[in-house]
Amino acid sequence: MLYLILFGPPGSGKGTQSEKIIARYGLGHLSTGDLLRSEIAHSTPLGRMAKNFMDQGILVPDDVVIAMISSRLDENPMARGFIFDGFPRTSAQAAALDGLLARRQREISLVLSLVVPETELIRRLLLRGVTSNRSDDAHEAVIHARIQEYHDKTAAVADHYTQLGKFRTVKGDGTVEETFDLLCTEIDELD
Ligand code: AP5
Ligand code: MG
Repeated sequence: MLYLILFGPPGSGKGTQSEKIIARYGLGHLSTGDLLRSEIAHSTPLGRMAKNFMDQGILVPDDVVIAMISSRLDENPMARGFIFDGFPRTSAQAAALDGLLARRQREISLVLSLVVPETELIRRLLLRGVTSNRSDDAHEAVIHARIQEYHDKTAAVADHYTQLGKFRTVKGDGTVEETFDLLCTEIDELD
């Protein structure tokens, strides 16, 4: 079983590359951002609460996202593993994920971290903001807040998995296909 974390700042290509990795390796997808946006679209209490945080570009509380992930790990028994996209985003989330997997006699196989210069992140997100209905892409100040959250709270997750020997960086500022090839090389080395 493959349990991959696709890691990186907002706009680094986690969602784009997740789709391609899932198609090639037959994995289930767990994107906390997509799950939260679905809750918002359905106007659930959880969605209304999360929207307040997401519109400002700040992280939703740990207990909310951990509960969301926990219930979904068992939903896809036929998958050959999972790709976690945008989760874990804090040290507490990383510890919770390790615990959830350990209880199922599983563990994270690899963390792949997409490295993209900040100017390119902002360019991509502003460009998407022109056509997407993602409220957090619409204002450059919110994009900056998201990147700041990444540095303040999420970068620590890299240290956690580096200490476990599971963290790899991948150049993420080439084309989508170039980045995908680099990611596949790392995944194929696991076999
Ligand atoms: P989330 O939905 O996870 O968003 P994000 O990480 O801020 O960033 P994106 O999803 O926008 O970027 P991405 O890396 O997936 O890149 P993408 O492939 O889309 O989180 C949103 C919010 O939800 C958070 O701010 C937080 O409030 C909350 N949240 C979510 N998870 C949470 C958690 N675990 N804990 C607490 N709160 C949580 O690409 C971006 C753009 O670039 C696209 O337009 C794409 O087409 C383009 N692009 C991709 N690759 C390339 C390339 N190689 N060249 C040119 N363009 C490219
Ligand atoms: Mg994404």
